[in-house]
Amino acid sequence: MQKLVYIALGTVLMTVSCNKQITSTKEVDAKDSQTFADLDKAKIKHLSLDIETDFKTHQIKGSAAYTFTNNKAKELILDTEKLTIDSVLLANGQKTPFHLGEKDAIKGQALVIDVSPKDTIVKVFYKTSPDANALQWLDPQQTHDKKQPFLLTQGQAILTRSWIPIQDTPSIRVTYDAKVKTPKDLMALMSAINPKEKSTDGIYTFKMPQAIAPYLIALAVGDVQYQPIDNRTGVYAEPGLLKAAAWEFADMGKMVTAAEKLYGKYPWEQFDVLVLPPSFPFGGMENPRLTFATPTAIVGDRSMTNLIAHELAHSWSGNLVTNSTWDDFWVNEGFTVYFERRIMEELEGKDYADMISVIGFQDLETSMRNIPEKYTSLKVDMKGANPDDAFSDVPYDKGYLFLKMLEDKYGREKFDAFLNKYFSSHAFQTITTEKFVDYLKENLTNGDDSFVKEWIYTTGWPKDFKKPTSKLFDLAEAQLKQDITNGRNKVAPKKVEISTKSTNEWVHFIRQIDPSKNTKEDLAYLDSIYDFTNSKNPEIECAWFEKAFLMQYDKVNANAKDFMVNVGRRKFLEPLYLALKETNQLDLAKDIYKSARPNYHFVARQTIDTMINYKP
Ligand code: BES
Ligand code: ZN
Repeated sequence: MQKLVYIALGTVLMTVSCNKQITSTKEVDAKDSQTFADLDKAKIKHLSLDIETDFKTHQIKGSAAYTFTNNKAKELILDTEKLTIDSVLLANGQKTPFHLGEKDAIKGQALVIDVSPKDTIVKVFYKTSPDANALQWLDPQQTHDKKQPFLLTQGQAILTRSWIPIQDTPSIRVTYDAKVKTPKDLMALMSAINPKEKSTDGIYTFKMPQAIAPYLIALAVGDVQYQPIDNRTGVYAEPGLLKAAAWEFADMGKMVTAAEKLYGKYPWEQFDVLVLPPSFPFGGMENPRLTFATPTAIVGDRSMTNLIAHELAHSWSGNLVTNSTWDDFWVNEGFTVYFERRIMEELEGKDYADMISVIGFQDLETSMRNIPEKYTSLKVDMKGANPDDAFSDVPYDKGYLFLKMLEDKYGREKFDAFLNKYFSSHAFQTITTEKFVDYLKENLTNGDDSFVKEWIYTTGWPKDFKKPTSKLFDLAEAQLKQDITNGRNKVAPKKVEISTKSTNEWVHFIRQIDPSKNTKEDLAYLDSIYDFTNSKNPEIECAWFEKAFLMQYDKVNANAKDFMVNVGRRKFLEPLYLALKETNQLDLAKDIYKSARPNYHFVARQTIDTMINYKP
């Protein structure tokens, strides 16, 4: 039985069960603990990059000039990580002294530049390290077409500082322009107004007139081409993948229209997607104007396009209204997941939206079981920690359940009007959890915030969430039961077309296999009907290989290894390495990892290094 205790929160008394804790209160300081910058003194407003990408040495070299507001500052402090700083100039072209501070394992190093209170412009000449955390330099072999190298950046959460010296906190916004020199035959693209064709001299200029948080500054360089979908959406991909990519994401235009109908005009003019090589560590990254996406979403039946809806939704939640610090990350992702599912409901109907809600709920259950309890509240405290340590499905799907609860409680119409106004009144601003709660009290809940605090600040499961259900998944479960019974009754398997169900239905089917009840023989029987081991659908592969690892059905091992060497998407890698670890197959895990690790981005390496205790 849970005992109830009373905890004083300012002047408010609230009830919480005693196995939970309040992780934060309203009085919390909104200062971002992950930056060295002193924003009260100096704040960057505009960034001007002039850089060159050196594919031989794996370095970016050049300069970054800043315009900043100066409040009697004697120093301008920027965040850096593994950067070499060559010199710093003032507006008059004179050199000014600078120094790098002590190294911090998480934050990197402060770059402290001497300025006088009248200075508002400085220019830093620098180069990146070949193992810069944000950068992934890929050999031709690691790309789809295997002809040209590829470079991509990943800024979120605090990696931008490893390729640009910057005040690397989501609590500021900057506009930017850039001149980027690349090898000829490659196209450069940024989270800015982009070219549609390659330049003849390898020089590209960019403008980003809308102010964005520094984690959203992005660059990719590769052999890509553009295919428009409509007058404001389109796809960039390597030539050999472009047709398939444009077909898979053909509904992008409709998605933008559906999103606008829900929460207001699309704020960034253009919405393009860049399909990256398979080692990209995420499913998608919402870089403004140019979402970065994994090729593993191209499954041939348009069934994983919620990923595009998700990144599109960030155009409002995250890019337009931005979490103030990484402690408030749920404000970016929770709203985005809610919004993503609303877009998908418009496009594909409720059955589709229900499926992805159940998948998300299952992921949340796994996270709640496995992560440290302190990271199971929506608002977290990341002081002294790496924002990536708190990364889990909690901000995504507990955030979703919270917003869904509000929708159910106040009705869809009222809730939509609330969200509409929330986005427009906070456009191009940052928001803390506390500010959001105040806004909610004033605009939706009539001053009531008792349940709000339990949802946001308390760890573990909230009392009043509604577990999502799906009709289509019920059918998939019934199918699994029948197949297992047939297998055990030695009914000869019939060859079945996998296309009879969509990707999510198969993922659910496989997820329902229970290692404590089902046997290796059951897996072999299912494999003989559906041939999961040879599936070319990454979602199915991941779900199937995980079960196979857990149940030591080693027929999959060769294919699973290929998959894990080729694909660097962390969401797929984590459960697979974990399954091997939990079943005492660490030797196999390490053998695969040895071949795979060079293909992974820093963020995936960091996760797997820690998980399987790998010392490079
Ligand atoms: N912004 C995230 C990716 C991210 C989060 C990168 C935190 C670095 C730090 C992106 O919008 C995201 O959530 N991607 C998901 C997509 C999925 C929910 C459809 C992913 O990569 O799996
Ligand atoms: Zn997201």
